[in-house]
Amino acid sequence: MQASIFPDTHDPIGVRIVAAIGRRGELGVNNMLLFRLKADMANFRRITATTPMLMGRKTWDSFPKRPLPGRPNIVATRNLDFMAPGAHVYSSVPPALAAARAMAALAGVPEVSIVGGADIYAAALPVATHMTLTEVDAEREATVFFPDFDRAEWRETSAVRIEADAKNECAFVIRELERR
Ligand SMILES: NC(=O)c1ccc[n+]([C@@H]2O[C@H](COP(=O)([O-])OP(=O)(O)OC[C@H]3O[C@@H](n4cnc5c(N)ncnc54)[C@H](OP(=O)(O)O)[C@@H]3O)[C@@H](O)[C@H]2O)c1
Repeated sequence: MQASIFPDTHDPIGVRIVAAIGRRGELGVNNMLLFRLKADMANFRRITATTPMLMGRKTWDSFPKRPLPGRPNIVATRNLDFMAPGAHVYSSVPPALAAARAMAALAGVPEVSIVGGADIYAAALPVATHMTLTEVDAEREATVFFPDFDRAEWRETSAVRIEADAKNECAFVIRELERR
């Protein structure tokens, strides 16, 4: 049976999108991150520490050290020869997501994390149940952008503002969103 990306209402495993975006939805430039935000990185590590983490091949390539330790790293690529030592590789998003959910269920973890980039966010948005969206108070030249989504479908459950300082180059707000 082919894996489905459509929501399985009986699946107890949540799907959390984790992203940091500039004012125009900017995500990255030339396969690098745009902002140096130590507090946001710490939050990213905390959220994803134990969850299976699904990403596109370019995001995997962008990690200085890989895999990120302590959780399954799951990479989508259309290149059937792609090698990602320490990661699970899938040739499309639905089976990658199904595998991530199965790994979470086996580990007793309540959700999986979707950590980018743009196409992977777009593919996961229809089934995402939660979002941790860091909105950075800055604009940057960018090559990839977060996909458009309907904010009306999401309820904000918290918003924490962090001011710029020596370790965070811009102010930002970490918004926790839940699908209505
Ligand atoms: N700000 C943030 O929160 C954040 C988060 C993550 C990444 N980023 C940034 O975003 C950039 C990377 O994101 P990106 O959008 O360029 O690339 P990406 O989504 O990480 O990777 C794209 C690649 O994933 C594979 N892929 C995409 N859709 C697929 C599908 N449906 N089935 C199978 N494989 C699929 C393809 O790999 P192949 O080409 O190998 O076939 C594609 O080239 C970097 O600049 C990174 O720093 C920012």
